Amino acid sequence: MNSDLPFVVTIKKIERESETVSTLFFNKKFQFSPGQFVMVWVPGVDEVPMALSSDDSITVQNVGIATKALTSLNEGSKIGIRGPYGNGFSKIHNSLGIAGGVGIAPILPLLAGGYVKTFLYGARTSEEILFYNQITSMAELQVATDDGTMGHKGLVLELMNAVKLDEYDLIVVCGPERMVAAVFSLLESNQLLEKSEFSLHRYMKCGLGICGSCCIDPSGVRICKEGPVFRGDFLTGSEIGHHYRDASGRSILL
Ligand SMILES: Cc1cc2nc3c(=O)[nH]c(=O)nc-3n(C[C@H](O)[C@H](O)[C@H](O)COP(=O)(O)OP(=O)(O)OC[C@H]3O[C@@H](n4cnc5c(N)ncnc54)[C@H](O)[C@@H]3O)c2cc1C
Ligand code: FES
Repeated sequence: MNSDLPFVVTIKKIERESETVSTLFFNKKFQFSPGQFVMVWVPGVDEVPMALSSDDSITVQNVGIATKALTSLNEGSKIGIRGPYGNGFSKIHNSLGIAGGVGIAPILPLLAGGYVKTFLYGARTSEEILFYNQITSMAELQVATDDGTMGHKGLVLELMNAVKLDEYDLIVVCGPERMVAAVFSLLESNQLLEKSEFSLHRYMKCGLGICGSCCIDPSGVRICKEGPVFRGDFLTGSEIGHHYRDASGRSILL
């Protein structure tokens, strides 16, 4: 099922993952590749991009108007879904996953598929470590929290020093841009960009490759069409970690 018009689904179940994050399960399953996203239309509010965290769910963090509306819905509510859109991660066993916070969402289907051997997961605090029990049944999990309430006290980047990065066949990454940029630099200095894949975020309007709002400098590739997953070496010299464009296209320093 892939439609460029919103397809109406009913929320059949809601799981609260943390104070700000909920997983919304639909009454329909989507055929997708891990890492693909959908455009989620919240009637009367907005339409926003969300990774599929499984074939029938999205995992949403409340950060603003649309996500507040989404996380306030009840079972039985209806929303519109367009997609799935974009590419996905390569499905390679013996992968290393690296994520921060809700950045786990697009990697979760890879974990569920058994592709991720080790998962390095960072968050501000233990409460923001999502899907803990699920992950530990699917991969070797190492956690870092800023406040030390779970696992290593510090950054997920520091966990990377404790694993043999070159022993993995693929390294998949998603999270806040500063984290992504730091991971990128470390992999670059270890000459591992060619076997890494990054799931990126930019402001999306159409999600279809038409409006240009999600392009990144200097190549102009569209995150919604050519991405959201890019091989690390393709991103060398790009705007990632430096600047981004807001809803009106203004360039903002990170
Ligand atoms: C490919 C992709 C996959 C994503 N997957 C997830 C996910 O699985 N779970 C999740 O919680 N979040 C995900 N996001 C981020 C999510 O789209 C934003 O948090 C959401 O759009 C915020 O909307 P808002 O109205 O609540 O917040 P606002 O107050 O409008 O904005 C808060 C922040 O969200 C960004 N944002 C707002 N609208 C958009 C938009 N249309 N496109 C991109 N960013 C936007 C703003 O730039 C700002 O940084 C994803 C983004 C992209 C591009
Ligand atoms: S969101 Fe319109 S081109 Fe990507």
